[in-house]
Amino acid sequence: MSTLSKKRYTITSALPYANGPLHIGHLAGAYLPGDIFVRFLRLNHKDVVYVCGSDEHGAAITIKAKKEGVTPKEIIDKYNKQIKDSFEDFGISFDIYHRTSEPIHHELSQEFFLNLYEKGEFIEKFSEQYYDQEFNQFLADRYIVGTCPHCQNEGAYGDQCEKCGTSLSPTDLINPKSTLSGNTPILKETKHWYLPLDKYQPWLEEWLIEGKKGELKSNVFGQCQSWLKSGLQPRSMTRDLDWGVDVPLTEAEGKKLYVWLDAPIGYISATKQWAIDNGKNWEDYWKKPANPEDESTLIHFIGKDNIVFHCIIFPAILHAHGGYILPDNVPANEFLNLEGDKLSTSRNHAVWLHEYLEEFPDKQDELRYVLTSILPETSDSEFTWKDFQARVNNELVAILGNFVNRVMVLSHKYFDGKVLRGSTLTDADRNVFSELSKYPGLIEQSIGTYRFREALSHFMNAARLGNKYLADEEPWKVIKNDEERVKTVLFVASQIVANLAVLAQPFLPKTATKLFEMLNLPQQSWDQAGQVDLLHEEHQFGEVQLLFEKIADEEVEFQLSKLAQAKINNAQEAVSVVPPAKTNVTFDEFMKLDIRVGTILEAEKVAKTKKLLKLKIDTGIDQRTVVSGIAEFFTPADIVGKQVSILVNLEPREIKGIMSQGMILMAEDADGRLDFVSASSTIKSGSTVR
Ligand code: 2FM
Ligand code: ZN
Repeated sequence: MSTLSKKRYTITSALPYANGPLHIGHLAGAYLPGDIFVRFLRLNHKDVVYVCGSDEHGAAITIKAKKEGVTPKEIIDKYNKQIKDSFEDFGISFDIYHRTSEPIHHELSQEFFLNLYEKGEFIEKFSEQYYDQEFNQFLADRYIVGTCPHCQNEGAYGDQCEKCGTSLSPTDLINPKSTLSGNTPILKETKHWYLPLDKYQPWLEEWLIEGKKGELKSNVFGQCQSWLKSGLQPRSMTRDLDWGVDVPLTEAEGKKLYVWLDAPIGYISATKQWAIDNGKNWEDYWKKPANPEDESTLIHFIGKDNIVFHCIIFPAILHAHGGYILPDNVPANEFLNLEGDKLSTSRNHAVWLHEYLEEFPDKQDELRYVLTSILPETSDSEFTWKDFQARVNNELVAILGNFVNRVMVLSHKYFDGKVLRGSTLTDADRNVFSELSKYPGLIEQSIGTYRFREALSHFMNAARLGNKYLADEEPWKVIKNDEERVKTVLFVASQIVANLAVLAQPFLPKTATKLFEMLNLPQQSWDQAGQVDLLHEEHQFGEVQLLFEKIADEEVEFQLSKLAQAKINNAQEAVSVVPPAKTNVTFDEFMKLDIRVGTILEAEKVAKTKKLLKLKIDTGIDQRTVVSGIAEFFTPADIVGKQVSILVNLEPREIKGIMSQGMILMAEDADGRLDFVSASSTIKSGSTVR
């Protein structure tokens, strides 16, 4: 059965973390496709609820709060409002934009946890987890950074490497560090409740791989297959954190639910709140009904980094709970890049939605149009301001806007804005009508298979059809000797405009409203699309309005200069934390330093100190003891056998009762992180360093 033939739909777009503003990458990932889909469903009289809301738990929030020196509550209140307002202004038509900090959400998340707990679904496990001794707290995955074992990215998080996309456990990281203190965390025992994903693997293989082959987009299916191929592992559903939904067990005091347990439940709690506010029954949209025909079709719109959570973990939770429907599809998009580079919040390399809306008020549809044209549906895609300008000027203005404007202006000029049939239709007129009637079906077919770029291009082809018709018929010339024919030409062209108004609704809602106003026609549903008598004889048009304006070169230059400025600011920030150069030394002074390659033979912590290691070093000249302040960054096991640079003719000095004979050379960055200065390949101990 086609995706679009059901009667009820539950549509979700990923709940954005309330820890920062939205940018165009978010829109192109989960929101614009979801909104087009939902608008299309509503136009087709479907019973649909479209839910979203702020994801207000997890380390994403607490890390941001720490960075800004405010409470997590202040962070979520600030960004929830900003995000909600931007979505509204941009025209993303959620039925509810909810918050996971609401009590109704906490209650439902706890109900889910208890349901699974009481069924004995969880495995209770003591395990060793990273703990920051300075901050006296266990470290959530996002509080640990280290080197990714797969791609060697040094900034990988404890749950995921954002460079290669691999999902990780904190203990997979090489050289882990706490982001709270910068120290190497210790492992400490703690109890957690694990969902045995391995137990659901056979069920997932059947439901997802067998059941959804050919239905899921290939990028989504591929990721799911590879997850299942590598074998699912139990995943902890609780965390040692002080921010989130409390684990509802007395023995788990102080522990919180894993944010990826509670966040997708946020879709359900949002629906519950919407149902309360609108006199609906939330269960109609989430529970399996007695009659399968009444079952709602659940579709999650997300970005590719969320695939595993929506295709594997959340369905496993819904399945384990029982009684709930499962996702019908998860049309995840890939990533959008900007001007040849990845979008980046930390580097401020982004087009922020709230800034766009301030700088281009009333140009929501222009951004919707361009983003829909370049949605990263099958692979990463790219936004550039030049391309934005070209698409607006050469497509929206030159094709759609120009066609509509000519029809409306000529109708007002020649016939006082009245629709008049004139003489009989020619073959050319009938051909145009027949072409026009194909577009609704083409668009429906593309939207039903989540090909929104293609759907939009069908829409623009309908506008091109109108443009060509006018250019062929040249009513501005014909008016000189055949007014009746001009009436017919404008009659045909007006029916195309009316159809464009209907077809524009899922993609360009503000433009569609303007078109209906200009046409003086009430808003039409999708059943009317393709009909060629939407406007009757003697129908009176409203006033002509300008649909689109060209984007000027200066506007593009301004945007490019903003991005360039962000790059300069980043570079300056990076430079400003590098200490200035010291005063010069003479060559002779430098040559007095005797620096050698040494090999660490033994290493042990110096008792009652945090930072010191006692090292035994083979300098090639001798074996000697050196005390070095590197214990926060390296454990003895990390460094035995390592080659280092050592200053061997430094005056010996006593440190904590140990005579230290020399100094290991270390590189130190602005954050106080240390690393060895050593040769890139093995070199004999005792070799000189100059
Ligand atoms: O990746 C994110 O931004 C998450 N906040 C998405 C959550 S989607 C859902 F499950 F709530
Ligand atoms: Zn990696």
